[in-house]
Amino acid sequence: MLGKRMQEALNEQIRIEAESSQVYLAMASWAEIQPGIDNITAFFYRQSDEEREHMLKLIHFVNDRGGFAVVPALEQPVLTFPSLQHAFKQLLEHEIFVSESINKMVDIALQEKDYATHNFLQWYVAEQIEEEALARTLNDKLEMIGNEKSGLYLFDKDILTVQVVDGNAE
Ligand code: FEO
Repeated sequence: MLGKRMQEALNEQIRIEAESSQVYLAMASWAEIQPGIDNITAFFYRQSDEEREHMLKLIHFVNDRGGFAVVPALEQPVLTFPSLQHAFKQLLEHEIFVSESINKMVDIALQEKDYATHNFLQWYVAEQIEEEALARTLNDKLEMIGNEKSGLYLFDKDILTVQVVDGNAE
């Protein structure tokens, strides 16, 4: 059975994962109307789907452990970006924020001696290492490219391989 404090923290994380899915969905929709970045667009849609999966996993866990998972209200995310660099920078900053939130939950699980939740959260800890590393790699590449059109073309091709690596890591 989940304690009250742990349940509240998990429900807050459900909100954050849902919000992450919306944030990346907005990036995907914006990218989709930019010319020549079809794979980057697919990447953002896929990230959005993954965040929804993270949310669902938490919902099932809370309910399976005798709690009640609350489906959250969400704010409208940022809809447009001055550049692709801005979008990817926001993605990295968002992932760092998510990692901090996961770490706070791990802390609470330990304080509450909730070892089942602690064990469950290890998947999220590992996932955040992957997601942050991926976001950093993509930001580094984009920084090197700058505003070069040919570089962006290669980046759009390249992001397909990054997706495969990320998929294998799950
Ligand atoms: Fe579910 Fe990318 O945090």
